[in-house]
Amino acid sequence: MKRTILALLLITTLFASFACERRGPSGTNATDSGGEILVGYYGDLTGRTASFGQSTRNGVEMAVDEINKAGGVMGRKVRVIVEDDQGEPNKAATVVSKLVNQDKVHAVLGEVASSNSLAAAPKAQEAKVPMISPSSTNPKVTEVGDYIFRVCFIDPFQGDVMAKFAAKNLKATKAAILYDFNSDYSRGLREFFTRSFKALGGQIVEEKSYTQGDRDFSGQLTAIRSANPDVIYVPGYYGEVGVIANQTKQLGIKAPLLGGDGWDSPQLWQLGGAALNGDYISNHYSVDDPSPAIQKFVAEYKERFKLLPDALAALGYDSMKVLADAITRANGTDSAKLRDAIAATKNFTGVTGSITIDKDRNAVKPAVVLKLVWDETSKGGKFSYDATIYPEGMTPPATTSGATPATGAASPATAGPPPPPSPAKAGASPGSGTNR
Ligand code: PHE
Repeated sequence: MKRTILALLLITTLFASFACERRGPSGTNATDSGGEILVGYYGDLTGRTASFGQSTRNGVEMAVDEINKAGGVMGRKVRVIVEDDQGEPNKAATVVSKLVNQDKVHAVLGEVASSNSLAAAPKAQEAKVPMISPSSTNPKVTEVGDYIFRVCFIDPFQGDVMAKFAAKNLKATKAAILYDFNSDYSRGLREFFTRSFKALGGQIVEEKSYTQGDRDFSGQLTAIRSANPDVIYVPGYYGEVGVIANQTKQLGIKAPLLGGDGWDSPQLWQLGGAALNGDYISNHYSVDDPSPAIQKFVAEYKERFKLLPDALAALGYDSMKVLADAITRANGTDSAKLRDAIAATKNFTGVTGSITIDKDRNAVKPAVVLKLVWDETSKGGKFSYDATIYPEGMTPPATTSGATPATGAASPATAGPPPPPSPAKAGASPGSGTNR
């Protein structure tokens, strides 16, 4: 009996060590043995922000399937190893450690929430494995080191976009802020929005915080109501925002809520429903964009997942495509060469726009402002395209053929005409106060 257990143990150990060593002769991820390309993906698949991780994984999967169907990257098939971090920073660090040290992946894609990326990035950096965050927007993420990249814009820009939209398009002079105290993302946006809004002559009349998982916001909202703001900036994640929207209306507050990309989830509507009508967010792309590349992506994604692709899905897709492009230019997966190739990414055409990585390893891209529109008849909500805002110094591309040029679009955050607006949509006509 003892012998059998011992033998079993031996076999398992042998098998386990074989499994760890299976890639590359020296077992280091810096080697380029020419076999499969291994990509680690980590995200929240079961936690409080699970729709972020699931959408992103869908986008990554879609990109990988396309790449493999077309013969792989330089003839090498791509295989993704998926890890669930349950939306917790310490777990994010653990799974990325496993991906880089044990699975010996060539690159890592993830995370969505900035606090999770911040916790995990040092593991990728120490192992010198390039990591591309599809959608973490806090500036500190890529400051971790020269192996850490992102394919999205950053929050000083995102906060500025909403501050300008509030001041110029909504003519707000008094704003209140309700932010998530434990989230690097939310704290950052609070700071950047405040800076820009004040620079425009606006005033922050009240400011309150909460933490993820809270369900009662009436104390904070009552204080905010007394300050009588024109708008309330809520840079949080959908799970709390949906509840906040409901409680805002229950307290009789009329001021619209403004938010960021963190609201983007189909589940937001299940939580907030009609209470979200007339609110606005900044985001990475719009499913309404008539550009053929976006419409092709939207159609294929819908066909496969029976859902509209949110920004997470589109950015997940783009992160994998940027990685594949860089591997081709690096002529393999040698980690230093791959790092340099990602850093040299220029005018890469993604679903979320043209991607150029700047010297700080961030993508410089426009943002869209979306209006939340609730339809009582169908009891469904949608994010309706309102405006595109370009970062300072970026010239908008020429209008796509066939698209109607924007008329009367008021004051984008920086110079430059807006890109093609969405086609007119029944049931989602922009109300007064929007810029169309
Ligand atoms: N930008 C958010 C963060 O950094 C994550 C996010 C991106 C959420 C896109 C939704 C959509 O935490």
